[in-house]
Order: sequence, then C-alpha cells, then structure tokens
Amino acid sequence: MRTSSADLSLAQQHWVLNCMGCHTATGGGIPGKVPPLAHSLGYFEHLPAGREYVMRVPGASNSALSDQELADVLNWLLTTMNHEALPKDFKPYTAAEVSAQRRPALSDVATVRAGLIRDLHERGIKGVADRY
Ligand code: HEC
Repeated sequence: MRTSSADLSLAQQHWVLNCMGCHTATGGGIPGKVPPLAHSLGYFEHLPAGREYVMRVPGASNSALSDQELADVLNWLLTTMNHEALPKDFKPYTAAEVSAQRRPALSDVATVRAGLIRDLHERGIKGVADRY
C-alpha cells in the first residue's frame, strides 16, 4: 500500500465527500440509524467473511468511488480509527480485491451482520455492538 501523506489526505477527502454525511465526522455513527465505523470496523477484519462484508455493505459497494479509492478509504478508516480493533496480521485492502468482491452489494445486511457478530463472539471478540 502507498502510505504517503498525500494519499492519506486524498482518502480522507473521499471519506468526507462519500461517507461522512451519514457516518459523521468522527465515524461515531448515529444511534439507531447508522453504525459507528470508528473503534468498531476493525473487528470485522478478524474474519474473512467480515473482511468481505465491509466491502459489500451498500454504502461502500454502491459508492461512486473507484475500486482503488474505496480500498484507500477503508484502509484509512481501519488504520486511523480502528488501531486497537485490527488483527495483528491485518493486510490493507487492494484495488484488485475490492474489484473482485465489492459486488453484488449485500441485500440482507442485518442478517449477515448478526451472523458475523455471532462468529466474533465465539472467538471472544466483542468489540462490535450488535445494536447501534
Ligand atoms: C446514505 C447514508 C450512508 C452513506 C453515504 C454511507 N453509509 Fe455506510 N452505512 C449506512 C447505514 C444506514 C449502514 C447500516 C447498514 C445498512 O443499512 O446498509 C451502513 C453501514 C456501513 C458499514 C457496516 C458497519 C457495521 O458495523 O455493520 C460500513 C463498513 C460502511 N457503512 C461503510 C461506508 C463507507 C466506506 C461509505 C463511503 C464510501 C459509506 N458507508 C457511506 C449509511 C451510509
């Protein structure tokens, strides 16, 4: 992954224009409506299916962002707001991975999310709130 400060600020701009309006500036979400991404998203990365989920939720999958831009935004969210939540062996998303897996967007987000949280709990990972 390229990690120059120019790339990071570009990812941040994509976040501001494409995601922040719903997910809020701090990534804290809106209770009852929009899940937090800060201090939460990283836990999904402990499961291969969780890694895929993050690319396939409608807000990410259907965004106007290119595959590279979406990879950059997700990596930015994960490395700046989810440090404590990430698995030690976390590997950044790549454009090729996003291209192969972002579509189709999930139509049953709540069911998939509930299943992932159950799997995480079985592994003793409790950082994702089951209600938001
Ligand atoms: C129109 C509002 C809106 C926009 C814009 C939006 N999201 Fe979301 N996002 C949501 C809602 C609502 C959910 C809850 C799941 C659902 O209903 O799709 C969600 C869920 C998520 C999740 C799953 C989090 C979890 O805990 O399950 C991720 C990851 C995510 N969004 C990333 C993004 C990214 C990245 C962008 C920008 C490219 C983005 N979203 C843009 C509203 C939005």
